[in-house]
Amino acid sequence: MLDTGTDARARILEMLYVNSDREVSGEDIARAIGISRAAVWKHIEAMRAKGLDIRSSTKKGHRLFPGADPLHPFLITSDLRTREMGKAIVLLETTGSSNDEARALANKGAAHGTTVVAEEQRTGKGRLGRAWVSPKGGVWMSVVLRPRLAPSKVSAITLVTGLAVARAVEKATDGKLSPLIKWPNDLLIDGKKVCGILTELDAEMDRLNFIIIGIGLNANFKASRLPEEVRKKAITLAEVMGSDVPRVPLIRAMLEEMEKAIDAFVASGGELGPMREEMKKRSALLGRRVRISDPGGTTPVEGKAVDIRGDGALVIEVSGFWKVPVISGSVEML
Ligand code: BTN
Repeated sequence: MLDTGTDARARILEMLYVNSDREVSGEDIARAIGISRAAVWKHIEAMRAKGLDIRSSTKKGHRLFPGADPLHPFLITSDLRTREMGKAIVLLETTGSSNDEARALANKGAAHGTTVVAEEQRTGKGRLGRAWVSPKGGVWMSVVLRPRLAPSKVSAITLVTGLAVARAVEKATDGKLSPLIKWPNDLLIDGKKVCGILTELDAEMDRLNFIIIGIGLNANFKASRLPEEVRKKAITLAEVMGSDVPRVPLIRAMLEEMEKAIDAFVASGGELGPMREEMKKRSALLGRRVRISDPGGTTPVEGKAVDIRGDGALVIEVSGFWKVPVISGSVEML
């Protein structure tokens, strides 16, 4: 399943990737990496056989044609600075839902951090049984998590992932984009949804088997490709930036930030801990009037969002004084 290639291969690919506007000579690659030209050639042949579009000429050297922002496990895992997150990675051209693929892998014992990325999804899943339209150009990614926490302690993991993705988008766009977190599972830019997170649990009463965290990030396509009712409230990174945001560094940053944030969450025993203040700063809801409908069917809560607790609950001030913590629900900004 996992194919990260050798170190040398990853380094060659990295060199070709950062110089993809020109040819790089076999000699330069060989010298930089400390292997023979014949070995460089062999590695390039192997990568070509894996489907990478590397064109070689004996005179000029080798050039990677990234085409339309290619996703390839080699590209993602080369220089990926994580311990576990994304170390095993599966890339699918098309699939029903990356969450279902990740769940199947988890059921077969896939390790914490195993990641499935799909170029497109035919039957992507959103929250509350909704469909998630996932055209080419997005980042449709699911990660298997096996945190050492009781099921009752993981309710804030979606928020923590949202924070990680917000940080990653900021990093991958050199600080130009800074999405806000719309509790409990969306990221917004200019008041519109750029990312949704679907968290699925496999657990018994007091034992957590695994979590599948599915991230749908509208990256490089036009929101006009989404169904009309979604399009009005959605935005993509490329639309705000005015050009595509390369997905390889973006996915790397997502995995790195997820590892940091989830490690910190587990270390705090399932509390936001030191992330709480940043979560509040990045919140799209604090200070605003909201209505939270509970999918469980209880009466909606309406009031001003005033706090995010350590366990991830959103605190709503009702009628000016009564403070109600809400653990989950669908939020409407009033
Ligand atoms: C929502 O806002 O309703 C959550 C959307 C989650 C979509 C992602 S895309 C990757 C993963 N695979 C799925 O089928 N869904 C999640």
